[in-house]
Amino acid sequence: MIDLIQIGLGPWGTDWATKIIPQLADVRVTGWVDTDPDARAAFAARTGTDAVFASVEEALAATGAVAAIAPVAIGAHAAVAGQVLRAGAHLLLEKPFALDTATARELSDLAAERGLVFGIDQNYRVFPAAPVVRDLIERQAVGTIRRVSLEWHRDHQGVRDSNSLVELAIHHFDLMRYLFGREGVAITCVPATPVRSAQDRTPGASLIVELDGGLTIDYVLASQGVDAQTPWPGVWRISGDEGLLRWGGPDDHRAVSITDAAGTVTAVEVPELPLFERAGVLRAFVDAIAGSGVPTSPAADNAHSVAMLEAALTSARTGERTRVQRW
Ligand SMILES: NC(=O)c1ccc[n+]([C@@H]2O[C@H](COP(=O)([O-])OP(=O)(O)OC[C@H]3O[C@@H](n4cnc5c(N)ncnc54)[C@H](O)[C@@H]3O)[C@@H](O)[C@H]2O)c1
Repeated sequence: MIDLIQIGLGPWGTDWATKIIPQLADVRVTGWVDTDPDARAAFAARTGTDAVFASVEEALAATGAVAAIAPVAIGAHAAVAGQVLRAGAHLLLEKPFALDTATARELSDLAAERGLVFGIDQNYRVFPAAPVVRDLIERQAVGTIRRVSLEWHRDHQGVRDSNSLVELAIHHFDLMRYLFGREGVAITCVPATPVRSAQDRTPGASLIVELDGGLTIDYVLASQGVDAQTPWPGVWRISGDEGLLRWGGPDDHRAVSITDAAGTVTAVEVPELPLFERAGVLRAFVDAIAGSGVPTSPAADNAHSVAMLEAALTSARTGERTRVQRW
């Protein structure tokens, strides 16, 4: 049994607490933290717990927990990560890890110096089709890849009311790195509405994403207009010399197929995963603390996904093609 504290008791934190964490029988949350008294009161009323604290330090001292999970407001990610890691606890932090590469690297270095497990919740890696598609790409199932497009369209008020690059594109940048095993080179981003900072809302964007080896992805992110709903990971079309690999149908994240040069379409089997998305991320995090494996998206690796987000935000602001920081 592993004892955790949970930091962040807003809508997403409540969902973690009531639907996700209970799926793992060997994980117990012994303290909950939020700086907002109203959020603490609402969470206590909803769940019946009284182990609700106003600070990370207080919760760790009172519970003796060795790790924390933090579905906390994006603006607090860096401060909360610093508090948890400096207190010597392992951390699973929600995406986006950070909004800039320097902060992400500083925090992942801090975890490494202290020998702590630090993972980021990039739960789209734990949709059942994700490892299947990655494997097909690695085995060159459609030959040399020539063209890739990714479309995300959902009629979603939450996305319309946010900076969709910060809330959503980070998932897709991370999936690009995961699926193709390549790093970002440069990004050109045209947001649907002006974006001068990460705090500015925008309901979508059109992007050209360049990866290593000359691979370019046409990426459209949209929460307005009438169209079929894509699944959360999006609809991917990966065209190679020997076929077209597709992932995602209308609101269907399990649909994977290959169309050969003669037009014959073959469906690809997608096996169930033992645990779906966030539950699988939590499983990998807890196992890593126990010394087995690594988190789904370790912070040091995720800093490269943050670098893509940072480039997209800079490009959105300047209108320029922007290089992705590399190290
Ligand atoms: N992985 C996914 O698919 C997914 C989906 C939705 C949200 N999220 C992420 O989950 C996180 C939380 O989302 P939300 O909509 O609940 O956010 P939110 O903005 O409602 O904030 C959550 C809570 O954090 C608290 N908080 C702010 N600063 C704090 C601090 N310093 N210490 C402790 N608590 C603090 C707020 O009071 C609030 O109750 C965000 O990082 C968001 O990006 C991830």
